Amino acid sequence: MPETVLLVGGGGREHAIARAVAPDCDLYACASNRNPGIAALAAEMRAIDERDAAEIVAFAREVDATLAVVGPESALAAGVADALDDAGVYTFGPDADAARIETDKAYQRRFMRDEGIPGCPDFETFDDMDAACDYIDAYDGDLAVKPAGLTGGKGVRVTGDQVTKAEAKAYLREADYDRVVLEERLIGEEFTVQAFVANGEVRTTPAVQDHKRAYEGDEGPNTGGMGSYSDATPTLPFMDEADYDAAVEILEATVDALGEYKGVLYGQFMLTADGVRVVEFNARFGDPEAMNTLPVLETPFVDVLTAAREGVRLPALEFSRRATVCKYAVPAGYPTDPEAGARIDVDEESVAQAAAESGTDAGDALLFYASVDARDDGLYTTTSRAFAVVGIDETITAAETIAEDALAAAGDGLRVRHDIGRPALVQQRIDHVERLRE
Ligand code: AMP
Ligand code: GLY
Repeated sequence: MPETVLLVGGGGREHAIARAVAPDCDLYACASNRNPGIAALAAEMRAIDERDAAEIVAFAREVDATLAVVGPESALAAGVADALDDAGVYTFGPDADAARIETDKAYQRRFMRDEGIPGCPDFETFDDMDAACDYIDAYDGDLAVKPAGLTGGKGVRVTGDQVTKAEAKAYLREADYDRVVLEERLIGEEFTVQAFVANGEVRTTPAVQDHKRAYEGDEGPNTGGMGSYSDATPTLPFMDEADYDAAVEILEATVDALGEYKGVLYGQFMLTADGVRVVEFNARFGDPEAMNTLPVLETPFVDVLTAAREGVRLPALEFSRRATVCKYAVPAGYPTDPEAGARIDVDEESVAQAAAESGTDAGDALLFYASVDARDDGLYTTTSRAFAVVGIDETITAAETIAEDALAAAGDGLRVRHDIGRPALVQQRIDHVERLRE
């Protein structure tokens, strides 16, 4: 009997999860939007809000789900994993309390400090915005200003980088958050390592570099992520193996301290002049990073899920040692003033053609739908990222070329960061780290 897997979430990350599990299970999915990529892979995709635990449990019972995977942090924060587990459906994703490692940045930093987890920057937390502003004035150096709660990756302001100290204070006064974390600004290159975690075991995946800034050349406001790349090795071109190992050690120390954690633990790291530091943890796959990692995972994801549920050793993960480049197409105006409700065309043929024309056995092109809404008369944008293409090949440069060919799928009205994965930008990262290490 194949497993019956219920997938919660309707973004690009969840399309990548759906693609990874679908060949080995009966798949059902639910999300507030109708993602046509997931719908094509699932026996049924039902319109249910990702945070509606009661409705999700009812759907899981109706389809006799034997496993569940929760994609988005909003669902974890709403206790969807707790509710599914309580209903007897083993859920790969932490309960709401364990998800605080992501959903409460003040808790996350205190946890790191209290547990002696390496890589924690100096920080203070504030409930009073006036006191926070005084701290910014008195602090000798630049700071990252971080709302403690979830902001979809868009709440952080870094002084000396995106904003002045005066602008950071004005932001705090205007936004009037309940709680903020102020921490030392880390300078370096960012990378992500995602790990499958269950039964005290940690299985790490290759490093990925996301691009948060909206515009080419790392300009503009932060986004949920405009695109990302990974190499054919576990490391990235600007990293040593020792840097990757340091990140893995931090993830392992965190899992040890967390105890019962299950699901994905995502570490966002900064490679600084003083080594690897933690920017944040997430309690789920990254979006876009899942689209880099899952397509090159050769071990069936369903085998990881069943081992996690059974309480046995997780399988060792095999990867196809290929590089990936992922580029998102986003609505005009994203992220500050996104044009929702615009009709878009996505030409799936041109993605298939990019794959066919890639020229090597290793080459492939994939399309992942994200926050689009499939209505009877076509596809429409929402306020978030619309779809992504992923190029896969032996090198980052070859993968980037495939991704660009596949982007012919993007019709008018969508924006892309073409610089992601290009040799010039990758070289900038290498030079940056070399300068830091001088
Ligand atoms: P987060 O929501 O914690 O992922 O932060 C969003 C982005 O803000 C990160 O990807 C970094 O680019 C930046 N950031 C967060 N914390 C720091 C820090 N301490 N120093 C420098 N940049 C940071
Ligand atoms: N790509 C960043 C995130 O998923 O949080």
